[in-house]
Amino acid sequence: MQPLTSTTYRDETWDFRSADTKQYTHGFHPYPAMMIPQIARRILEEFGQGAQQLFDPYCGTGTSLVEANLKGVDAIGTDINPLARLIAKVKTTVIPLEVIDQHIKDFNDFVFSIRWDRARPTPVIPRFKNIDYWFKEDTQYQLAVLKEYIEGIAHEDVRDFFSVAFSETVREVSLTRNGEFKLYRKTPRQIETFFPDAWAVMAKKLVRNRRGMAEYIRAKAPAAVARIYDFNTVYGIPQDVLGAESVDIIITSPPYGDSRTTVAYGQFSRLSNQWLGFEKLNEVDKKCMGGKRDKEIKTFDFPPLDAVLARIAALDPKRVHDVVAFYADYEASIHHVAGVVRQGGIVAYVVGNRRVKGIEIPTDKVTSEFFARCGFTHLKTVIRAIPNKRMPKRNSPSNVVGQTDTTMNREYIVILRKEG
Ligand SMILES: C[S@@+](CC[C@H](N)C(=O)[O-])C[C@H]1O[C@@H](n2cnc3c(N)ncnc32)[C@H](O)[C@@H]1O
Repeated sequence: MQPLTSTTYRDETWDFRSADTKQYTHGFHPYPAMMIPQIARRILEEFGQGAQQLFDPYCGTGTSLVEANLKGVDAIGTDINPLARLIAKVKTTVIPLEVIDQHIKDFNDFVFSIRWDRARPTPVIPRFKNIDYWFKEDTQYQLAVLKEYIEGIAHEDVRDFFSVAFSETVREVSLTRNGEFKLYRKTPRQIETFFPDAWAVMAKKLVRNRRGMAEYIRAKAPAAVARIYDFNTVYGIPQDVLGAESVDIIITSPPYGDSRTTVAYGQFSRLSNQWLGFEKLNEVDKKCMGGKRDKEIKTFDFPPLDAVLARIAALDPKRVHDVVAFYADYEASIHHVAGVVRQGGIVAYVVGNRRVKGIEIPTDKVTSEFFARCGFTHLKTVIRAIPNKRMPKRNSPSNVVGQTDTTMNREYIVILRKEG
């Protein structure tokens, strides 16, 4: 392990060991490698005084956008995963409680009537690939009824609110194993005794999320808004969304590496995306940073990274292409992100130093270096343990089934300031 410097240190107060991470709308939907709200909150408190505009270039389900709005800061987020964007939108969009209550009541009445009436709806069951592998026949019917019901909701924000509860329901009533982010099927024995009730699951999610929305409405600064987009900072940032030097603070947690070998966001979201009818869902993992392998092995003119890449190349000349592709995209993204931060503005990247072939890649230092090249000064890097972070703790660094290694159980909060 490298010696720590005075600006890079372990601080247990950032672990937030017993914190409630599901307050407000934060508990609406699980997602891999979510940031815990307390991190965004503390960064905003320590570095966001007077901030008016936050940007999260990998916003996922919108943790930092919610926290910004709670503090009266406007927020813009982007993510290439449509499911993440939907969740982020719903978590940051206030719907009057009486509107939610009326819709939940209508929904419960509807379910009651179809449970007890003979006239059952006859929805179209989508025929996407592997539907029979992941869902029992009765579940397919129940989900199709829900889908058709949701499509009939006229109020767009309510429709999205219901869609988020539906997405979580899809996951819970599917034949995937509990507690896994990747798609693994239950055992035949488990399947035999698994009779989920999708309508009841959905009703529970709606009530829980209504509670979260009530807390959020009570705490949110009324004027603050969040806007969520679908652009990829690797290729640029649309001027009409964020002009040069328009952002006061960035709080984000980028992916730890390419989707193929770290967290498969596309795979996690596949069943929901299929039921929700999001198109081109196979492209999520390809569009993620490092999703397209480069033919050339480039170097980065940064010895701590280049040395590690050379060691990985010596061990696995193919695999190193994925790693290089990821850091090439990461550098391009940082270049674009740096351009929208105002002078004196703050950047906080929460990163993990993943291992490939047993070799640790110093992503925290890489992050500092790439921003330093764009005129930023490193303020500090805090190392925290990850007691709460919902992500797989083990992966297969060698890509050999059964061989695992401990992935990030600590993460690095890298904080920099743009100098004038
Ligand atoms: C660690 S997660 C962010 C989680 C988020 N902080 C939260 O609390 O939900 C990283 C996100 O980056 C997204 N992503 C990966 N590559 C991307 C890219 N090139 N542009 C935008 N988003 C990307 C993934 O879809 C994923 O949602």
